[in-house]
Amino acid sequence: ARYLPLLLYGLLIVLAFAHALILFMNGQLTVGEVITYMGLLEVLRFPTYISLFTFSAVQLGLAGAARILQTIKAETELDENAAGHSAPIRGEITFERVSFGYGQPSGEGQGAAPGEGETAPISRPLVLRDISFHISPGEIVAIVGQTGSGKTTLTRLVNRIFDATSGRVLIDGVDVRDWSLDSLRSQISTIEQDIFLFSRSIAENIAFGAAGNASRAQIEQAAREAQAHDFIMALPDGYDTVIGERGVTLSGGQRQRIAIARAFLTDPRILILDDSTSAIDSATEDEIQKAMRRIMRGRTTLLITHRLSQIRWADRVLVLRRGELVAQGTHEELLATSEPYRRICARYEETDRVSR
Ligand SMILES: Nc1ncnc2c1ncn2[C@@H]1O[C@H](COP(=O)(O)OP(=O)(O)O)[C@@H](O)[C@H]1O
Ligand SMILES: [Mg+2]
Repeated sequence: ARYLPLLLYGLLIVLAFAHALILFMNGQLTVGEVITYMGLLEVLRFPTYISLFTFSAVQLGLAGAARILQTIKAETELDENAAGHSAPIRGEITFERVSFGYGQPSGEGQGAAPGEGETAPISRPLVLRDISFHISPGEIVAIVGQTGSGKTTLTRLVNRIFDATSGRVLIDGVDVRDWSLDSLRSQISTIEQDIFLFSRSIAENIAFGAAGNASRAQIEQAAREAQAHDFIMALPDGYDTVIGERGVTLSGGQRQRIAIARAFLTDPRILILDDSTSAIDSATEDEIQKAMRRIMRGRTTLLITHRLSQIRWADRVLVLRRGELVAQGTHEELLATSEPYRRICARYEETDRVSR
């Protein structure tokens, strides 16, 4: 099909020349007119050749577009559930015999059949195994365990960054897969250790993620609650100070407080705090502790931490070990009954001391 234009052009020339010859024979055209006519046909040569290149370019483009569309569609089909359950969250979280394994790296697998969930189970080693627990609204629950035991993964099932491989995750008694993703995610905030800030003003960074446009007053209020207002005011342009490569750099503790201010503005019902790295001294800053305590108030909180001082804030502790929930209870209960927990605490005490 590629060379079709060239073929057509060739045929056109031949036919036109034949036609011109006939007319010439009949004396209806002069030699000059025939030559002029053929000369004019030459003008078509260039677009014909160009069309060869554009044709292949367009074809490539179409193929690419088809693949992009396929990806977009696949992802929305899997996820959104816009018509799903949408309601204010109270903050009850229930895991019912949840197991989870990461699939293969989710590249555009060639000819990956849309039938999701049909991937061979062998290729998905379970990161979480048969986990069940219940968290009441407003409860603060610490999750402890060694690195790689699945703490972060567990929290990812709550806001549906991933779906459980088997079992169910319920929020307020409704399967997360039945929630409208939008409604679900807008009411759950995650603060991770690695805080991502845009190369924009501080105010814009705080307002990021808030529904609608937050007013300056609301932004300042959030910053105050996050103990960030004072250091922001000390910056050259206050809330309009630009962060990032061409702006100021903030310390880890300052970034963390920006993230907490963000969360205050979003006012989530469920809060996930993932303090993944154990040795960051910023987290021991008095102001951060204060901000963290305040953001947790009245919200269901999943608190991943390596700090004994923070574990003591929790109403309950879940102990994970290699993807299994090996114990749960209050700090004191677990100290009395759980050997793995005592070991973890001993180690945490060390990191606590080191980072002070
Ligand atoms: N995106 C991912 N894809 C594949 N495997 C992952 C991914 N994230 C984590 N894992 C694996 O899952 C296990 C649990 O990780 P994680 O939940 O991050 O543990 P923790 O937060 O307790 O340190 C680890 O073995 C890790 O290598
Ligand atoms: Mg982690």
